[in-house]
Amino acid sequence: MNYKTALNNKIFEVISQASQELNVDSYVIGGFVRDLLLGRDFKKDIDIVAVGSGIELALKVSQLLPNKPKVQVFKTYGTAMLRFEDTEIEFVGARKESYQSDSRNPIVENGTLQDDQNRRDFTINALALSLNKDNYGALSDPFNGLDDLKNKIIKTPLDPDITFSDDPLRMLRGIRFANQLGFEIEENSLNSITKNAERIKIISGERIVDELNKILSTDKPSVGFLLLFKTGLLDIILPELTALNQVEEIEGHTHKNNFYHTLEVVDNICPNTDDVWLRWSALLHDIGKAPTKRFNKKQGWTFHGHEFLGGKMAKKIFERLHMPLNHKMKFVQKMVMMSSRPIVLSQETVTDSAVRRLVFDAGEDVENLMTLCEADITTKNPNKFKKYHKNFEIVRQKIVEVEERDQVRNFQPPITGEEIMEHFNIKPSREIGLLKEAIKEAILEGEIPNEYQAAYDFMLKKAEKIGLVKV
Ligand code: CTP
Repeated sequence: MNYKTALNNKIFEVISQASQELNVDSYVIGGFVRDLLLGRDFKKDIDIVAVGSGIELALKVSQLLPNKPKVQVFKTYGTAMLRFEDTEIEFVGARKESYQSDSRNPIVENGTLQDDQNRRDFTINALALSLNKDNYGALSDPFNGLDDLKNKIIKTPLDPDITFSDDPLRMLRGIRFANQLGFEIEENSLNSITKNAERIKIISGERIVDELNKILSTDKPSVGFLLLFKTGLLDIILPELTALNQVEEIEGHTHKNNFYHTLEVVDNICPNTDDVWLRWSALLHDIGKAPTKRFNKKQGWTFHGHEFLGGKMAKKIFERLHMPLNHKMKFVQKMVMMSSRPIVLSQETVTDSAVRRLVFDAGEDVENLMTLCEADITTKNPNKFKKYHKNFEIVRQKIVEVEERDQVRNFQPPITGEEIMEHFNIKPSREIGLLKEAIKEAILEGEIPNEYQAAYDFMLKKAEKIGLVKV
């Protein structure tokens, strides 16, 4: 099979020319070829393998390009990278790798194209297209990757135990590809993931999270998470989630399986947000439920305080997996901690003051919180489903109305502490805090609008009540 016409990008012609000048064979390999053959969007990073020095080839390519782009050389890895237009092109010399059990770093030797293909993760990622003048565009497919692409199969080129043990990150990659592309993992490879799951422990949190983020960015992340669960990987990476996989019955009372519920929530949120952090919030929103679960005869199953504990647990997960400990973490934590707030509203009559309080507490994140809570409606009772969604619609409407009137989203007290001190001619004291709090409460309760004059009048009345007089 020849894919000459598919390689019509100028960069491939230049690489071909450079290879010929250096008398080195070169191939485009990996994800670019896979996605090209699948008809997916043009990939913005291209991997080139040279049967010889990848670094020398990159330098030559740069010389032949009109703007002579800078070549970034990674000597230790024997790789080099340059940018052409908006694509990153990575060059590597064909190599043979062997691994040792305690490290991700292989012993590397120069090798042939076939050696290089052997060390790749999946048959569909080992496909290579020739950039050599004599057979430009010819497909090299030693493991029938093309068939696997057609049959939608993820399979390792070698014995999966070797491929996964060499680089355990590939177990996650395999699951991620299955999820992203809608492929099945071939039975042997899948069994091998289960068998080698423990090896994931040698992989850094950052790289694991990279893959989790990609899974969370698919249209239906539950597919990936169920595979992670089934193979035992999830138990190692996020035991807080697998702890939710239980249903207990006491005296005829059961509670829902919060693991499967969580996956449903994550899938539900996907059509409504591409924000991976909001998707993380959906994933973690119920993690506090396993450690807070209690049973008592009066109420049945309870999960008191699970939101607060869940928020704290979310932070620990971010720390453990080396995720960013910045505003992203704070956002997820806040979403988890507030995740039940609108639910309560959806089940009751929606009052203005409850909505005002919600907007006050959630601030800028109130719409995201609503999106999370709408996704959280997984009841199979159609009447309840309708009622909850309708109430959420009312909440959303009221958020707009309340915001128009009172602007509590980024609440600034209409009367400052300084003004109170000035008016009563007093020094900083407990009374000032009391008055400020009373004004805020009156606004949130809807007793007074969020306006200066109304707050001023209210302050005078309140001051009188607590015996504070102007001196
Ligand atoms: N590869 C591998 N093992 C890994 C990572 C990468 O064998 N752990 C090989 C595969 O052949 C892969 C290629 O290196 O196709 C390029 O890797 P990368 O750019 O990380 O992934 P892509 O396959 O290009 O796909 P994506 O960009 O979606 O991650």
